[in-house]
Amino acid sequence: MMETMEIPVTRVKRSRLAEIDFNHLPFGKFFSDHMLEADYADGEWKKVSIKPYQPISFEPSLMALHYGQSIFEGIKAYRLQNGEAVIFRPYDNLKRFNISADRMEMPAVPEDIFIEGMRQLIALDREWIPARDEYSLYIRPFMFATDTALGVKPSETYKFMILLSPTGPYYAAPMKIYVEEKYTRAAPGGVGFAKNAGNYGGSLKAAAEARAQGYDQVLWTDAFEHKWLQEVGTMNVFFVFGNTVVTPSLEEGTILEGVTRDSVIRVLREQGMRVEERKINIDEVTEGHRSGKLTEIFGSGTAATISYIKELRYKDYSMHLHVDGYQTAPAAKKILTEIREGKRPDIHSWLVKV
Ligand code: COI
Repeated sequence: MMETMEIPVTRVKRSRLAEIDFNHLPFGKFFSDHMLEADYADGEWKKVSIKPYQPISFEPSLMALHYGQSIFEGIKAYRLQNGEAVIFRPYDNLKRFNISADRMEMPAVPEDIFIEGMRQLIALDREWIPARDEYSLYIRPFMFATDTALGVKPSETYKFMILLSPTGPYYAAPMKIYVEEKYTRAAPGGVGFAKNAGNYGGSLKAAAEARAQGYDQVLWTDAFEHKWLQEVGTMNVFFVFGNTVVTPSLEEGTILEGVTRDSVIRVLREQGMRVEERKINIDEVTEGHRSGKLTEIFGSGTAATISYIKELRYKDYSMHLHVDGYQTAPAAKKILTEIREGKRPDIHSWLVKV
């Protein structure tokens, strides 16, 4: 056990908890009473504090606004059957956060600020964890450059913060997606594996064009041939061919190493499914659909949890899938939900107690 770091706390005068309708929680719209803040300067993290959720003010020359040194994570906390609050795999998010930081030439955030700070913040706002099925407390750690100057170089100062947002499902209904052939999200050597803000800003035009055509999101493809499948807007993607599940591999560095992706792979393997992490081409998917071997497509993400895909379109070919007959995705979802609710043994020690 790590020694508990003393974080100074300024409490709200009056909680906003009673103003929130916990039966209607759109994703990421409401924030809990408190937030965590820490500053990096002179090569070290300092001024870690928990304070009321409030605006922050900066000079307009704030470097993050101009050159995009800005990264984030998404994590969830749940309430167990016995009332205890738990965080799902936060150490994996810490690891990925610092991989993103390294790629963006930003400092690492130490465990005692990221994990211990998160635990103390959630402990303070534990009443904000929703109890409803499919609801959770979404945790948003993020870091951005705070130098005020216009030269293009790594900032020397940064701010790290954690916000908490009680939240419902991200994608409520099965999704319609098309295969993106015009825009590119990531290329080898780029920043596709990092959770930097710009990856999401750069995806919005493609998503808007998809929406204009009646689709929920796009399935990203490689930069050169637009054939090799990467990920969907805010999720990793899985294809089920009978007893074999295929998901794009990580080695090119063009997709996010999803924590939910890894959880799905592990629980499906434990159920005796064959799960292949490898390159997968759109032609394999369309052929699988034509022959009837392709039975499911689904996405995984912290915000999205496990989301079923009911239609995938490639050029003029629309692949309709029978979501009602899905077995693999619902099985993975059920197991993960039961672990999070404390109804199934947490054999991987994925739950971290608040
Ligand atoms: C997450 O799944 O936590 C994400 O960060 C995706 C999105 C909401 C940005």
